Amino acid sequence: MSDWLSPDVIASAPGRVNLIGEHIDYSQGFVLPFAITYRTTVQVRRRDDQIIRVRSKQQLDAVITSSISELAPGSHGGWELYVLGVIWALGISEGVDIEIDGQVPLGAGLSSSAALECAVAVGLNELFSLELTVKELALLTQKAENLYVGVPCGIMDQSVSLMAEAGAALLLDCRDLSTKLVPFDLAESGLELLIIDTQAHHALVDGEYAKRRSACESASSKLNISSLRDITLESLEEVKGLLSDEEFMRAHHAVSEMARVLAAVTVLEQKDFPALGSLISQSHNSLRDQYEVSCPELNCAVAVALAYGALGARMVGGGFGGSAIALAAHDQIESIKGAIDKAFKEESFTAPRFFTSLPSEGAKVIKKLVR
Ligand code: GLA
Repeated sequence: MSDWLSPDVIASAPGRVNLIGEHIDYSQGFVLPFAITYRTTVQVRRRDDQIIRVRSKQQLDAVITSSISELAPGSHGGWELYVLGVIWALGISEGVDIEIDGQVPLGAGLSSSAALECAVAVGLNELFSLELTVKELALLTQKAENLYVGVPCGIMDQSVSLMAEAGAALLLDCRDLSTKLVPFDLAESGLELLIIDTQAHHALVDGEYAKRRSACESASSKLNISSLRDITLESLEEVKGLLSDEEFMRAHHAVSEMARVLAAVTVLEQKDFPALGSLISQSHNSLRDQYEVSCPELNCAVAVALAYGALGARMVGGGFGGSAIALAAHDQIESIKGAIDKAFKEESFTAPRFFTSLPSEGAKVIKKLVR
């Protein structure tokens, strides 16, 4: 096994938290995520055959072995599909050994899967001198997840994992993948962003995510627009009669959320954190009531955080479980955590986990070794 210890390239990529702009990446909207400190690191090594070996530091006894000719979308498997999918999407034709050290909390809605895909993609891009740009890598890792793993995700998670910069949130236009960095320095304002992993995993996630996407697509097709990016809230109200109640609610969330993201950028640039907090909370209400992707644990975490002084709080990611965020003064964080813990006990929910994170840098090559 000693050959596992001498990689050619070491690369890493972070998980993410989305400040605002939820469930609108696949409607070509704007999103404002940032990369978290937790990262996945991969060590990749060229082989002189067609074999692919993958193992994870978290599961050292399990080595997954495959080969280039066996790669096929729709294969069954576990987490290794994210790795094999990226090898497939990048069109790699030579064997590789890949060892993974995943430090992004799993199942918390913090995009551990995008971190894995992007770390592998950046590592392979360097190893095989593919010279793919970060935009190309974002589209290819999304393709891996959509077609190889079979999850119909949008482009946000991979883009932020690849393109984020430390100290900033990333305004991403999901229509053309153009970006703008928005300085996001909470510490200098005495604030912190608490991440509350509700530890809830409601089984609905996959099917419901796909249903939300298709409701947005059918609304745009009935309105004869290419995506919900192409309509304002006022115009949407005017054509309400053309949509089913469900399509209208979903579209209302998407269109109002896109406007909230742009408003959030403005207030963030002005360092108006109370206004940012209010937009974050409005986003939660819209996700809960119009988009119907929240759940009792997320609603409880958000309500308690607000009751204990948070400037804003909301669910993040796909929903039906995973994490919420709360923007609060640094010295209120402990009492918010205590109150959420207590409320979860009273409701007999699984105990939550808490994280905080500063906006961190995106994927990078850490080392290229010459053999
Ligand atoms: C998941 C998907 C993203 C995005 C979010 C919701 O994280 O992977 O593409 O759609 O849900 O904003």
